[in-house]
Amino acid sequence: MTSRLRHLTTLEHLPRECIERLLDRAIAMRDACAHGTRKLDLLRGRTVLNLFFEPSTRTRTSFELAARRLGADVVNFDIGFSSTSKGEELYDTLHTLEAMHLDAIVVRHKQSGTPEELVRHAMSGVSVINAGDGNRAHPTQGLLDALTIRQHRPDFENLVVTICGDIRHSRVARSDVHALSALGTGEIRLCGPAPLMPDPAEFPNCRFYDDFDAAIEGANVAIMLRLQKERMASTDLPDEAAYFARYGLDVRRLARAAKGCLVMHPGPINRGIEIATEVADGAQSRILEQVGNGVFVRMAVLGEVLAR
Ligand code: NCD
Repeated sequence: MTSRLRHLTTLEHLPRECIERLLDRAIAMRDACAHGTRKLDLLRGRTVLNLFFEPSTRTRTSFELAARRLGADVVNFDIGFSSTSKGEELYDTLHTLEAMHLDAIVVRHKQSGTPEELVRHAMSGVSVINAGDGNRAHPTQGLLDALTIRQHRPDFENLVVTICGDIRHSRVARSDVHALSALGTGEIRLCGPAPLMPDPAEFPNCRFYDDFDAAIEGANVAIMLRLQKERMASTDLPDEAAYFARYGLDVRRLARAAKGCLVMHPGPINRGIEIATEVADGAQSRILEQVGNGVFVRMAVLGEVLAR
């Protein structure tokens, strides 16, 4: 048994048994709360703070639902109205919030490494959960993607998983690769135009492609990513129609993948840029299943870090 996590800042270097424990716990949470129709009291009396310095729809809502379904109190810290907009330092914000007695901080920040900074500077016993930092990590997304795949294909060692799009700026790609590698995935392929690809040294156990037709050939899972324009140099911005022609997942390309290939996307999706509407809404799409699993995975993570 690996020891219980106090914080979750990244999936990098987490052992397989720890990732499997969290996925098993997510399923146990799903069953215990009867798919969200029954409230649990595991975290009654505990307070979870959503501290989002970047916009988010599904991740923030999903953390909020997860905490409420476990009986916790939830506070959403609205950055727009907070004194951080008056230049208050991150650590002052942290200590001010800690003085209000919180049990967990769920943080999203454009600066990579912010969750670890909060762990280092926290003065109370508060747990820190990363909801996405820069292009570095999005551990609960990595877990919910792994869970979605496992529900259909638990035989990770036989799988070819293709991740396509703006890999360089994607924290989702990094956390997916960490989870998939730990679970023993047979082959992980990364595909995108050269300016949007990372340094291969960062992904030693992945195969790199710039031709999506080749990268999707025989794949069992296709994870499509958004062009993260907010993190790109303007010179790297591809023409959207040309991008879709080369890297978009359409019906013709999906036919090159293995039969029953799972189609995934962390959202928000851009129809006609990285994925065709027929595919996003098609029979092989698992995109809404990912969203549903997100709540159970976040319940599992909150339950783990806040267990007494
Ligand atoms: C992702 C994110 O914010 O990193 N979205 C999400 O959490 N659902 C991916 C993205 O923004 O493209």
